[in-house]
Amino acid sequence: MASASRTFARAAFKSTPATSALTISTRNTGFTIRQTFRQQSRRGYASEPTKSSSSGLYISVGALAVAGGAGYYFFSQGNGSLLSGSAGETKGIFTPKFEDYQKVYNAIAERLEEKEDYDDGSYGPVLVRLAWHCSGTYDKETGTGGSNGATMRFYPESGHGANAGLVAARDFLEPIKQKFPWITYSDLWILGGVCAIQEMQGPTIPYRPGRMDKDMGACTPDGRLPDAKQGNKHLRDIFYRMGFNDQEIVALSGAHALGRCHSTRSGFEGPWTFSPTVVTNEYFKLLLDEKWTVKKWDGPKQYEDMTSKSLMMLPTDMALVSDKAFKQWVQKYAKDEALFFKDFSTVVTKLFELGVPFAETTEQGPMVFKPTTA
Ligand code: HEM
Repeated sequence: MASASRTFARAAFKSTPATSALTISTRNTGFTIRQTFRQQSRRGYASEPTKSSSSGLYISVGALAVAGGAGYYFFSQGNGSLLSGSAGETKGIFTPKFEDYQKVYNAIAERLEEKEDYDDGSYGPVLVRLAWHCSGTYDKETGTGGSNGATMRFYPESGHGANAGLVAARDFLEPIKQKFPWITYSDLWILGGVCAIQEMQGPTIPYRPGRMDKDMGACTPDGRLPDAKQGNKHLRDIFYRMGFNDQEIVALSGAHALGRCHSTRSGFEGPWTFSPTVVTNEYFKLLLDEKWTVKKWDGPKQYEDMTSKSLMMLPTDMALVSDKAFKQWVQKYAKDEALFFKDFSTVVTKLFELGVPFAETTEQGPMVFKPTTA
């Protein structure tokens, strides 16, 4: 059933000019079509602009961040043993097991599509971006940054330009944290990314808990995440610093099959593919098969496809085809989706574990969650 619906989704969203035209012509009246797609594929495509401005939410998140930061000290202890109950309560030690994490996974999965008018109908893409931005601050030389800490709860990291808009993902996960207070923010944010990838029909991402939240003193300096305006040298500088190689940079970039850019967040605008809520290798196919030209507009330099003029690529995306070493991997992943899924799973697992001293905090092996769509 899952694979049948995936085939349907892929076929329906395949980026041929014919389906491009179909998708574009339904941009404004897309509700019924989207519903039909969603019923059959459990995924949809919508292209309404973001309805809510995220700027007004900063205050509430600031407050939550402070409260959450304090809450952590009451709820968690070392060695994976967590105290239950509210502040000051010390009776009863709760050690979460696989089933408990699966419950958190299910609670996230259940809400991914709760708001029809949020972006393309799913919080999945922005959850993937949150998990990546926690992890991608890692510096292998100093051992600082990475997914162990959830320091984006605090200003200044929450205010770094690269993190603009991620308040939507943090706010989405806050009620889950309230429901399962024993999980750390850093484990929860990564579990959100794992859940989103699997629920959007991507590969299995094995998950290990054990991250500990840190205080604001552990915030990383601005500038550790990639700048989309730059090129291949910058990509290598940034990702080599985290410990990745060329093949891994390309595989990770395949995440841009998902989601979209928002002019209110990064300044860039538009989705990369016609199926922004389904994990596919479409990003690589489009990079090679479409003709990309510089978009004429007031915003920062970005590219648009000549066929439909509704898709986009960032300068850093285009670097993957202008650089020979990167391009050979783009070609491999465009040809072979199974290879992309395999490599994407491996490299995302590595990304999500950057900077986490598992041996000290947990003895649990990798967990494999059952997708709710299976
Ligand atoms: C290669 C360097 C990268 C650059 C320069 C880059 C840049 C960007 C930018 C500018 C956006 C738009 C943000 C917005 O306006 O909402 C974005 C979105 C996104 N990025 Fe990346 N990114 C990179 C790598 C990655 C990686 C490694 C992943 C995950 C493994 C990822 C996952 C995503 C996702 C899922 C979105 C969509 C978010 C949404 O729909 O809200 N990106 N990225």
